Amino acid sequence: MIISCALSAGLLAATSPAAEAVPAPRFTPGAPGAGDPYFPDMGNGGYDVGHYDIRLAFDPGTGAIDATTTILATATQDLSRFDLDFQGPLTISRLSVNGRNAAFTRSGAQELVITPPSGLRKGSPFVVSVSYAGVPQKIDDPALGLSGWVATKDGAVALNQPIGAATYYPVNDTTDDKATYTQTITVPAGLTVLANGEPGPNTTRDHQTTFRWSMNRPMASELSMLAIGHYDVTRGVTAGGLPNITAIGQSIDTKPGQGQVFNQTTAQVVQWESSVYGPYPFDSTGGILADVGVHYALETQSRPVYDQDTSDVDGDLLAHELGHQWFGDSLTPVHWSDIWLNEGFATYSEWLYQEKFNGVPVQQTFAKTYTDEKDWTGAVADPGRDNIFNDLVYNRGAMTLQALRMKIGDRAFFEVLTLWPTLHRYGNVSTRQFIQFVERLTHRNLDSFFQTWLYQPGKPAL
Ligand code: TRP
Ligand code: ZN
Repeated sequence: MIISCALSAGLLAATSPAAEAVPAPRFTPGAPGAGDPYFPDMGNGGYDVGHYDIRLAFDPGTGAIDATTTILATATQDLSRFDLDFQGPLTISRLSVNGRNAAFTRSGAQELVITPPSGLRKGSPFVVSVSYAGVPQKIDDPALGLSGWVATKDGAVALNQPIGAATYYPVNDTTDDKATYTQTITVPAGLTVLANGEPGPNTTRDHQTTFRWSMNRPMASELSMLAIGHYDVTRGVTAGGLPNITAIGQSIDTKPGQGQVFNQTTAQVVQWESSVYGPYPFDSTGGILADVGVHYALETQSRPVYDQDTSDVDGDLLAHELGHQWFGDSLTPVHWSDIWLNEGFATYSEWLYQEKFNGVPVQQTFAKTYTDEKDWTGAVADPGRDNIFNDLVYNRGAMTLQALRMKIGDRAFFEVLTLWPTLHRYGNVSTRQFIQFVERLTHRNLDSFFQTWLYQPGKPAL
């Protein structure tokens, strides 16, 4: 999604009388990757997605899905051909572009190569519809763990960071092509479906319930999410008036009242973080405590997922995943090498939470982390593909922020914490932009400070 008016600009260009003077288009294939050094095959070039409409029926008996995903996109070059990311054993029964059947092949692990009946002019909107079925297979990456469509005892949970979305829908799986989503999911009556954004309307017919969820703000595919199973759902509202939908898997051993506590703590954290980071970026919030077995929690947009074994789902962890709604979700790095812009700020959210609600000063957490940290070998702002979820990124990322606070003072620092997410709301960001932003705000040259903390291996002196 391009936040300016790409769609109308394209329509104007196509109908402009000057078009005749323009040389005949040279249609060329879109790139098979979006250019992330860590994940070169992820994403594609030549178009920009505006919306995903995922319609999917799930059969818990076989674990199979039967789905049609419709994608609204705009060509960003004269396209003879383009790719979507789509992976695993799902079988495609029909694929159309602008309503006409289109030729396609599958190439490598994740490329779905589509040749429309005629070329797509730069700037023109187009619709791709893909029907497919089968049993989706999760990804088990030696360094990055489990992701994608994960079967559970009574359903499935889909978690897509950094890779995984392509295990159950065709997608431009890159952080810098955000789009809105509707997910319309049909399951046997009695099961519940949760997903990003706003619920309903739901319908039940012939012992099948169809749940609808809409994310009406730009979302990166890695933050899309689905949870199907037996859940106890709690609906509330934050003090600021945001709808707050939380859910706990029924197979999870809970303490009495935990559903209410989970809902209320979520509301409290969102309210408090809004006072520190500025207005909450999405139209609702919540969280899902699921028995999924991936051993991590994930900041899925508007509604994080907490694996049941992410120990106690306490305020700290909620502060981390909900802090990501500003840092990671609303603002998303262009490249995975910059993931400290997510994890550093989310970890710093935990430190702020500890100070605010448990009386542990941030500076004390910093000092302890600085003393205890063993790994000072890598570069925070370029940790390497296999290390994007390492402590280095989380802890040294947060330490960098606290060191910055000590350098520029509280006033400027807390301005950074609200202005940075406000300036780039729903957009994509880089470390270079962050450094420039802080330097402009403070009128200081901080190059060597950031060089030391973000790029240079070794323990920075204080
Ligand atoms: N990004 C997640 C968070 O910090 C954590 C996470 C996602 C993760 N995938 C992972 C951690 C794989 C370890 C391994 O909220
Ligand atoms: Zn995180």
